[in-house]
Amino acid sequence: MAEFNVTPEQRASQGAFFRRQLFSKPPHTSRREVDLAGKTAIVTGSNTGIGLECSRQLLGLGVSKLILAVRSEAKGEAAKKVLVGKKAGTTQTVEVWKLDLSSYKSVSDFVVKTQTLDRLDIVVHNAGVVKVEQEINRSTGHDEVIQVNYLSTALLTILLLPVLKEKNSRQKPGRLVIVSSDVASWAQFKEKTSNPLLPAFDTNQFFDGQDRYYTSKLLGQIFLSELERHVPSSGGVVVNCANPGLCYGSGLNRDSNGTGAGLIFGAFKRVVGRSCAAGAWSLTNAAVKHGEESHCKYIEEGKLQPMSPLVYTDEGKQIAKLLWKETMDELAFAKVDDIIEGLSK
Ligand SMILES: NC(=O)c1ccc[n+]([C@@H]2O[C@H](COP(=O)([O-])OP(=O)(O)OC[C@H]3O[C@@H](n4cnc5c(N)ncnc54)[C@H](OP(=O)(O)O)[C@@H]3O)[C@@H](O)[C@H]2O)c1
Repeated sequence: MAEFNVTPEQRASQGAFFRRQLFSKPPHTSRREVDLAGKTAIVTGSNTGIGLECSRQLLGLGVSKLILAVRSEAKGEAAKKVLVGKKAGTTQTVEVWKLDLSSYKSVSDFVVKTQTLDRLDIVVHNAGVVKVEQEINRSTGHDEVIQVNYLSTALLTILLLPVLKEKNSRQKPGRLVIVSSDVASWAQFKEKTSNPLLPAFDTNQFFDGQDRYYTSKLLGQIFLSELERHVPSSGGVVVNCANPGLCYGSGLNRDSNGTGAGLIFGAFKRVVGRSCAAGAWSLTNAAVKHGEESHCKYIEEGKLQPMSPLVYTDEGKQIAKLLWKETMDELAFAKVDDIIEGLSK
């Protein structure tokens, strides 16, 4: 793994995690370094937590149009007020667009709306959930965490690729950042020997709330490792993923609020975690400071780093092929194969 200064195992170790959390931070970017004036950006799940802070940072870098892609328009409008409160009268605009990752239709409708934009430069796929108890998505029959964090995020990614390509160029590619996590490397991923793979998430045989979330983030990395084989970096769009690190003050673990486990984890986050604003710089950095070299790569503390060790093993490569095929089959209604084929040329 010559391209990295650490092995995947070293990076994934708990020691490395604590060193990052306690002694390092994602780098800030100033408007002197990067001016986003004239550009348009979308941040999903931007009404709160890390997504709200990333939105604030993009506005600070001068982005001209910011779209808050949120499942609750009321929460989106409240976030917009927070963001534009002190900026009234500037040329920057903030819009609230509905996007519910629990619904493929909502994802497709959202992408159709993006086609009307004059330009689209940056997209940050930040929305995500954790569930303590298993929930099955009524419209798709899939586990809700896999639905939101992996399947619908994969659909949104694939559908937005041609939009970003069309509105950008090889010289100035669009950027799409998928929010990843340290925990992708810590997933037990008990479902990994199942064939077919995706249906194994839909029964409660293997369900464990924590590991389901960890695995959903791992699937995102595996998907990206396979996307690299199908969509070249020179296609007018760069896709990468970024780890904000453990952050306190977000709503991610809201399901555990008021429980003993929630109290203990909350205290742990206050000691070891960083603020959502500090974590959000990782997403902002991935969106504005990295080019083709970061295509389908993982970024942490502003640097390209190895993904989960599983991704680089023969077993991981086999899983990647199976996951890719099953994901394409699941999303076939949206003609994702044709889209990927069109982008591979
Ligand atoms: N916090 C951490 O320590 C940490 C560490 C590593 C990675 N991450 C990742 O960072 C991202 C942001 O997390 P956060 O900690 O900021 O959590 P958060 O405060 O709970 O924010 C999550 C956002 O996702 C939205 N969302 C949830 N389900 C959705 C759906 N079905 N459709 C559309 N939007 C949906 C939420 O909307 P509502 O407000 O309407 O629910 C919220 O805006 C996630 O991808 C998470 O996995 C977080």
